[in-house]
Amino acid sequence: MGATNIHWHGGIVTREDRARALNMRGATIWFTGLSGSGKSTIAAALEKELLIARVPCYRLDGDNLRTGLNADLGFSDRDRTENVRRLGEVSHLFADAGIVVLVSAISPLQADRDAARRAHQNDRNGPLPFLEAYVKAPLDVCESRDPKGLYKKARRGEIMSFTGIDSPYEAPNSPEILLDTARCDVAECVATCIENLRSRGVIA
Ligand SMILES: Nc1ncnc2c1ncn2[C@@H]1O[C@H](COP(=O)(O)OP(=O)(O)OP(=O)(O)O)[C@@H](O)[C@H]1O
Ligand SMILES: [Mg+2]
Repeated sequence: MGATNIHWHGGIVTREDRARALNMRGATIWFTGLSGSGKSTIAAALEKELLIARVPCYRLDGDNLRTGLNADLGFSDRDRTENVRRLGEVSHLFADAGIVVLVSAISPLQADRDAARRAHQNDRNGPLPFLEAYVKAPLDVCESRDPKGLYKKARRGEIMSFTGIDSPYEAPNSPEILLDTARCDVAECVATCIENLRSRGVIA
């Protein structure tokens, strides 16, 4: 269980101080969707565009973090929730530091994504933008793409509890960003994200 006798040590620098000094403002875009819907592809392309515009940004890809921070976690219900909880906490810290964070993780459960949102909203220095981006593509489209061959393995019974096949995916209730990758190409999806960040005043 959690430690007791913990006392929060506040800093001297406010978020506004940081934003003024470094000319940056943090936010998290949380890409959620089925495997193969395009989360990682869009996040990588968006990161490139943001850096060209000199916006400090960083990707937290669910797969990549499973090689380090989350290497102890598997795919049980409990571990999936813990995986998303850690992504939520880390993205919150990065956003607080003034970075535009691009999380890409299936994150199948609305309750888990809501918890990540709360981590941003309940920051002591005021809420940080949390933009849920639903990367939407029908299961058959994702399965026909199958960039990692995972659907084939799941259909052969070599992977159990695969999201969309024998494990649920809960589409976002009211995502800030909707990216329909069956209809829009990567560049259009990236442009939608950038427009969204602009309209919310996260980037100039
Ligand atoms: N509009 C689009 N946006 C993103 N990817 C697209 C689009 N159209 C086609 N694709 C293709 O779909 C595939 C998406 O794969 P990607 O690895 O990005 O999925 P993912 O959502 O990250 O999956 P996973 O949850 O398994 O990591 C790629 O092969 C990509 O080229
Ligand atoms: Mg991915």
